[in-house]
Amino acid sequence: MRQITVTEQLLIHQKASPMATGRFTRLLNELILAAKIVSREVNKAGLVNILGLTGDINIQGEQVRKLDEMANGIIIHRMQRAGLLCAMASEENADLIEIPPQFAHGDYILIFDPLDGSTNIDVNVSIGTIFSILRRTHEEGPVSSEEVLQKGDHQVAAGYFIYGSSTMMVYTTGDGVHGFTLDPSVGEFLLSHPNIRIPEKGKVYSVNEGYWNYWDEPTKKAVSYFKSTDNKKRKPYSLRYIGSLVSDFHRNLLSGGIFMYPKDSRDPKKPSGKLRLMCEANPLAYVVEQAGGAASDGEKRILEIEPYELHQRTPLFIGSKEDVFKAVSFYREQNA
Ligand code: AHG
Ligand code: MN
Ligand code: MN
Repeated sequence: MRQITVTEQLLIHQKASPMATGRFTRLLNELILAAKIVSREVNKAGLVNILGLTGDINIQGEQVRKLDEMANGIIIHRMQRAGLLCAMASEENADLIEIPPQFAHGDYILIFDPLDGSTNIDVNVSIGTIFSILRRTHEEGPVSSEEVLQKGDHQVAAGYFIYGSSTMMVYTTGDGVHGFTLDPSVGEFLLSHPNIRIPEKGKVYSVNEGYWNYWDEPTKKAVSYFKSTDNKKRKPYSLRYIGSLVSDFHRNLLSGGIFMYPKDSRDPKKPSGKLRLMCEANPLAYVVEQAGGAASDGEKRILEIEPYELHQRTPLFIGSKEDVFKAVSFYREQNA
């Protein structure tokens, strides 16, 4: 069967989504090139680890340090030159990343987690890159932080790359969710999962149960629900927890289920849990809602949260609609 490339898919959807303009196609293709390079380096890193080598020597003569920084550098280097961005924000950078004056500017803002689940690379478990695209709200001039701190409902596109047994890209521009698999023999992402829909209800729950003693009562009730059985019809859900958000999310997107990263009492500096709103929760919430699922912080839709800070964190309940609503109901009970 002749398969469709990303560019063809965007052109097909050109009329349906205002985002599928030529400029956006170029932006996505630049991001795809960056992801192909990250994928190559991530695969090699495992080898380097075994051989104890330190990996490449970069342009400044330094050894390639952590994978997060390596992936971060590749994406920033590539996307600065795309001529379509007015600013970037990365999980790895405290502040906004400017586009140097020598490069053409555009009106898109890219927010990304360059490498999600990076602690897993040493044990060869799949990891990924998560991206969110906003359009600036001012016509020109330096990008202000409130142009970046837009709620998730304002995203014009979002998605992720997953570097697993195959390298995949999943994205939405507001017209459904489409999955592409990299064919390394031709170096193209080909449409493999058209119009992904997440099952209304799953059979899997993903949460790090090791933190049980740090959770509040509604969280314990929610997690207990998914593993309980009423001995007659309802069987317990299976627990699947990879430790890479992208991988746990992707499995649940395709086969149904819920991922939870609740707030916990471990770190008073992080009262809202570990995951970041702008570069993790928002993009995946946009994807899951476009696929018929739901994403909540325990009280409201993730996409309605008004951000106040670039790296703010949020509790995250995301996946099959019925499962997310069930989990959130335990918090509603408490707050009723
Ligand atoms: P990152 O590697 O970008 O920091 O993200 C790691 C996140 C996420 O991928 C995963 O779901 C979560 O950390 C796992 O955290 P715990 O080890 O605390 O369960
Ligand atoms: Mn992450
Ligand atoms: Mn990361």
